Amino acid sequence: MAPRDAKVSLMSHGLHYGGGVFEGLRAYDTPWGKSVFRLEDHMHRFMESAKFLRLKLEYDHEELCEAVRSVVKANGPHADYIRPIAFYGASPNLSMNPQGVPTHVAVVTVHMGSYIGDRQVREGMDAITSSWEKPSNRATSLMAKVCGNYVNSTLAKYEAAQAGADEAIMLNGNGTVAEGTGENIFIVRNGSIATPDLASGVLEGVTRDTVIKLARAAGYEVEERPITRGELMVSQEVFMTGTAAEIVPVRAIDGVPVGSGRPGPVTQQMQSLYRDAARGEDARFTNWLDLPEGTHLEMLKA
Ligand SMILES: Cc1ncc(COP(=O)(O)O)c(C=O)c1O
Repeated sequence: MAPRDAKVSLMSHGLHYGGGVFEGLRAYDTPWGKSVFRLEDHMHRFMESAKFLRLKLEYDHEELCEAVRSVVKANGPHADYIRPIAFYGASPNLSMNPQGVPTHVAVVTVHMGSYIGDRQVREGMDAITSSWEKPSNRATSLMAKVCGNYVNSTLAKYEAAQAGADEAIMLNGNGTVAEGTGENIFIVRNGSIATPDLASGVLEGVTRDTVIKLARAAGYEVEERPITRGELMVSQEVFMTGTAAEIVPVRAIDGVPVGSGRPGPVTQQMQSLYRDAARGEDARFTNWLDLPEGTHLEMLKA
């Protein structure tokens, strides 16, 4: 069904209070056909987000994965981004209490192409440091993709757009770096890679995890630790990661060039490793693909 034909009650808790959770996944062409990258990991996080919100899904992990596969299949070759969403529906008397409120689950797909922009993926994007602080892990679970959490990201993204920038970087209550509005952040300093730890107030990004594993396999040391704003400004390279954004170099922050102001070698290597892993071109990481049972992976070129 077309998204505009779905009926959603104006009394929905999800609409009024942000009582919902969502995921974002990408489908890539591989030598064996279309594959949703790290499907099982994304749907695992979807279930964890629902658990945090006490939202009863009434579908198990395999049923949710199958729903994503069938939506991709039904929408043809151009559907490259998939958005499962689960939310509290009509809330009698508009009560804030979600107990007893029905839960709805839907999967939509769009053709997204490049989320930040093709030029930015090639040449780097401009970021600002947002004046909006990232909420703390005491305010909500930042590990959960809860709809209501994204008001903060919306404000920061608007602020970036107003400033003529592509993306915003948010700091947490301690003043250290958290993440972008829909991306995790990495720095490269003196040949080693670092990204804010979970306590810094970040989503446990699937792409973040992919990059950590790809980088370690390529021989880099990767640290998960607090990163100061000052450190960000003097890093040789900064890049952001996300399912929608993929891997995007940051060429300037608040108008100050990052390193040479051009994508650095580590960032470019990560972009290339990620591209290959997601498209089934790297034999070491085919376990991240979602292929029909019985697919003969030995067809893969070495
Ligand atoms: C706030 C936030 N941080 C980071 C990410 C990147 O996460 P992932 O790599 O799992 O898409 C996202 C996107 O889902 C996000 O919304």
